[in-house]
Amino acid sequence: MKSSWQLWRDRRGRLSPLRMAALALLLFPLAKALVDAQAIAHGARPINDMIHRAGFWALVFLGVTLAVTPFRRIAHYGHLIDVRRMLGVGTFCYIATHLTLFTADQMFDLGKVVHEISHRWYLIIGGTAWLGLATLAATSTDGMVRRLGGMRWRRLHQAIYGIALLALIHYFQQTKADVTVPIFAASLFLWLIAYRLVAWWQASSELSTLTLLALSIAVSVLTFIGEAVGIGTAFHVSPLRVLDVAFDFDVGIRPGWQVLAAGLAVVAIDFVRGRWPRRTPGVVAAE
Ligand code: HEM
Repeated sequence: MKSSWQLWRDRRGRLSPLRMAALALLLFPLAKALVDAQAIAHGARPINDMIHRAGFWALVFLGVTLAVTPFRRIAHYGHLIDVRRMLGVGTFCYIATHLTLFTADQMFDLGKVVHEISHRWYLIIGGTAWLGLATLAATSTDGMVRRLGGMRWRRLHQAIYGIALLALIHYFQQTKADVTVPIFAASLFLWLIAYRLVAWWQASSELSTLTLLALSIAVSVLTFIGEAVGIGTAFHVSPLRVLDVAFDFDVGIRPGWQVLAAGLAVVAIDFVRGRWPRRTPGVVAAE
C-alpha cells in the first residue's frame, strides 16, 4: 500500500510513469514561472501577471481533465483514468492560487475581496465557477464517492460542464483585445462536450472514425460562424467580412482552422488505433 501523498505511485504502490508524467505536466507552469521570474518581477504588474498565469493554466488543466474520457476511448488507453482525479485536483490547486493571488493584490483585505467579487460581473461568474470547482475537489475522495453513492456522485460531477462554461465566459469578459486564444479554448471545450453529447445520443461509448471527422468539421464550422457573428456584432462590421479574414492566412491562422487541425489529429489517432489489437485496461476507477 502507498501513502496518499505519494502521487507518483499507483493504487498498488508501484511507480507509475503515467502518474509521474501527469505530475510533471501539472508542475510545468510552476517551473515556467520560476524560469520567467526575472521577467515577471521587472514587468509592470508582477502580481497581475501571476493572476493571469494561474487562471490560464487552471483553464488549460480543466480542459485536459475533460479530455481524459474521450482520449482514453479514442486512443484505447484505459489506464488514463488513473490520472483524471489528479488532474482535476491539480486544476483546483491552480484556481485556488488564482484567488489567493487576487486576495494578495487586494492586500488581504477580505472585505474588499468580497466587495470586488460581488460588484463585477466577470468576477461574479468566475467566483461561481470557483465555488463549483471547490465543491468537486472536496468530493473527489474515495470516501466521498462512497458516501454520496456512484449515481449521485456522477450527477454532481456533471456540473463540470456548467463550470467550464462559466470559466470560459469569465475568460472572454476579462480579455481586453485579441480574442483568438479564448475562441480557440472555447472551440476545444465545444469539441469535448459535443463528443459526449454525440456518444450519449448514439448510446455508444465509442464514436466511429467517420463520426469523429464529422464532429470535428462541425465544431470548426461553428467556430468560424461564432467568431464572425461575435466579432461582427462587437465591432459593428459584417460577419461576412470577418469570415473573409479567416481565409487570409497572412493575418494569422484563425481558431476555426486550429480546432479543425486538432480534430483531424484526433481522427488520425482513432484511425491508427482502430487497426491495432486492443489491450484490456487493468485499472477501472469510478467514472
Ligand atoms: C473568485 C474567483 C475568481 C477571481 C476573483 C478571478 C479573478 C481574475 C482576475 C482579476 C483576472 C485578471 C483580470 C484583468 O487583468 O483584468 C482573471 C483572469 C482570468 N481568470 Fe479568473 N478569477 C476567478 C475565477 C476563475 C476561474 C474559476 C477560472 C477558470 C477555471 C478563471 C480563469 C481565468 C482566466 C483564464 C483568466 C485570463 C488569463 C489570461 O489572461 O491568460 N478564473 N481572473
